Amino acid sequence: MIKNIFLLTLLLVFTACDEKPLSKNLDGKKLLELKCASCHDINMPPIISDDELAPPIMAVSFHVHSFVTPTDESQRTSKAIEFVSDYIFNPSLEKSFCDEASLERYGLMPSLKGKLTSDEAKAIASYIFTHYTQENLTKIQKSQAAFDALAPGQKIALKNRCLGCHGIDIKKVGPSLVDIANKFADYKDEMIQSIKNGSKGVWSKGAIMPAFSEIDDKELEILSEWILKTPSNLDKIKH
Ligand code: HEC
Ligand code: HEC
Repeated sequence: MIKNIFLLTLLLVFTACDEKPLSKNLDGKKLLELKCASCHDINMPPIISDDELAPPIMAVSFHVHSFVTPTDESQRTSKAIEFVSDYIFNPSLEKSFCDEASLERYGLMPSLKGKLTSDEAKAIASYIFTHYTQENLTKIQKSQAAFDALAPGQKIALKNRCLGCHGIDIKKVGPSLVDIANKFADYKDEMIQSIKNGSKGVWSKGAIMPAFSEIDDKELEILSEWILKTPSNLDKIKH
């Protein structure tokens, strides 16, 4: 009898686990990379190629979000999620929002039945409609445009994470760029060597700067010119 109660409890615990609502720790972004990216481009904005196998996920998101027709506008996103969660397992020419020419070019998406669970499908679909939005696209394009507008030297500094450790005119982990520029004003080649080889204990005891031997000479030249000009460029760099 005691054994039976034990078994019964165990059974209840397991069924309870089974009925847990959609697990919050399913990572829609990772799952999208894992289960969809082999066919769908997942960049935003997408990298368009002539031999793409399927529409980019951003296009899928925009299509589905505008073409599903909810009776109640507030349900647009939840209906879109429902559509995608279903499409993954039951794709069909009738359901697809792709135009005829694209469907002919790509062919119908194969069903992913058995390749992922319905909770995973929902997590992917939710991620698609929270990430691939017009608002996020505009944000990304704006920051891309802001990055493009920067001086070439500042782009190289950002790419190599220099500005994570060096403030423009404030000391962070390392000295400020203004202090560095003042020290090396007439010693550009020495500064380039420091960047290439790293530095240890020069500015303060125990301070270490990693070596950046992988930056090529041309980029080092542009980067150094930019650093040496920071004192006179302060207003431009700091808006
Ligand atoms: C083996 C390749 C392949 C994989 C993997 C794949 N798809 Fe597709 N998918 C396609 C193709 C091809 C189309 C275009 C034809 C169509 O609409 O069925 C498509 C179309 C779609 C559509 C309909 C698009 C529209 O605008 O109507 C959705 C939604 C979709 N895919 C979601 C996904 C999601 C989410 C995943 C990952 C879980 C995924 N697909 C994985 C090939 C694939
Ligand atoms: C992980 C943090 C970190 C990163 C990333 C970093 N630095 Fe440094 N940097 C430091 C520290 C700390 C010092 C001071 C080291 C010392 O006292 O010897 C320093 C010192 C320097 C110096 C002065 C060296 C000297 O001999 O006086 C230069 C020039 C410099 N960094 C440039 C750069 C550039 C350019 C980049 C990007 C390519 C960069 N740093 C990335 C931490 C960093």
